[in-house]
Amino acid sequence: MTEKVALAFSGGLDTTVCVPLLEEEYGYDEVIGVTVDVGQPAEEFAEAEETAEALGLEVHIVDAKDAFADLCLDAVRANATYQGYPLGTALARPVIAQAILDVAVAEGCTGLAHGCTGKGNDQLRFEAVWRDSDMEVIAPVRELGLTRNWEQEYAEEKNLPVEAGNDGDWSIDTNLWSRSVEGKELEEPSYVPGEEIYDWTTAPTGETEEIELEFEEGYPVALNGEAMEPVELIQTLNELAGSYGVGRTDVMEDRMLGLKVRENYEHPAATTLLNAHEGLEGLVLTKDERSFKTQIDQEWAEKGYQGLVNGPLVQALEAFIAKTNERVTGTVTIRFEGGQARVVGRSSPYAVYSAEAASFNTEDVTGDIEQNDATGVAKYHGFQERLANRAMKHAKESAPVTDGGETEDAE
Ligand code: ARG
Repeated sequence: MTEKVALAFSGGLDTTVCVPLLEEEYGYDEVIGVTVDVGQPAEEFAEAEETAEALGLEVHIVDAKDAFADLCLDAVRANATYQGYPLGTALARPVIAQAILDVAVAEGCTGLAHGCTGKGNDQLRFEAVWRDSDMEVIAPVRELGLTRNWEQEYAEEKNLPVEAGNDGDWSIDTNLWSRSVEGKELEEPSYVPGEEIYDWTTAPTGETEEIELEFEEGYPVALNGEAMEPVELIQTLNELAGSYGVGRTDVMEDRMLGLKVRENYEHPAATTLLNAHEGLEGLVLTKDERSFKTQIDQEWAEKGYQGLVNGPLVQALEAFIAKTNERVTGTVTIRFEGGQARVVGRSSPYAVYSAEAASFNTEDVTGDIEQNDATGVAKYHGFQERLANRAMKHAKESAPVTDGGETEDAE
């Protein structure tokens, strides 16, 4: 029986050298490549296909944009960011891993392989999904201790189709939700990058624009009155908000294994949608819901960063998020200005807000509360602080005094 292995294939150096290694070192008879579309630029698919052809590798391209976009919008309902990063790479990994597993099952594979190193997060995110199956999980780069230099030499020796010079470029990971750039000079945290590292955003010019986003139960559903499916909405906002320089972040990121790395990201749509969603929650949720939800959100983001969005904890968190977000329906006006996407207006039929109650001009606010009702509350407010201060003052005044005039103390 021929043993087949499915390889997460991008056409880059790491995954290219994995193809012969899976046969030579792991004894597989056949390797199939799987490239999953989560919104990478077209050139990346062209590169993958070209490399595969030169390798004689059969590649399956799976379109997972819709599934990925849905997950991104779940992240919006959870106001999810990790150390300021909206999780583009992180959220894509379980979607990619699942799509590869599905192909592997359909193709009768017995193994799954990725080209991740032993230093990063992606190995953990991929394997969390894969190890839930009966397949053998293989990580040649990590297991064989490969370095870029070794890979380069090996590729040359084997005459593998790897683009020369590619090694000197930034390491870039792009999908619908974010574009991340790392490597080269950026590895030095004090290095101030120039405009050349950005591709989705242009530096703010002073121009401004206002847009209107409509939400239903916490999900964005329309832009400027036009209904849009998640993928289209995200792509449209990336272009629009990106043209105002929205969504650049430079993060000192703590990876799961403890390594600290410097990451630069662009995520115009994510920033816009996250700000708008949180702005609308501010209008419709009670104070208690908002403050408790920050804990739920934080936990969701943590699991999202770890690539564990399918576990029971996340399902339970989502039950809370879904319940609170039943009322997160309404419209938010966002202004792109100075590289920011700022909430400048919001409305909802569920607003926990009464202009009458908050106004300085009306006396009887909701029909059952009047200004003077606050008097008793105002008397009690700070009661414990007053008692504590009084006790401290009293204790000091009655403490015995020594010859030196100092308070007798335990030394
Ligand atoms: N630090 C990001 C994460 O773990 C991944 C960034 C990947 N970026 C790259 N340029 N290879 O989610």
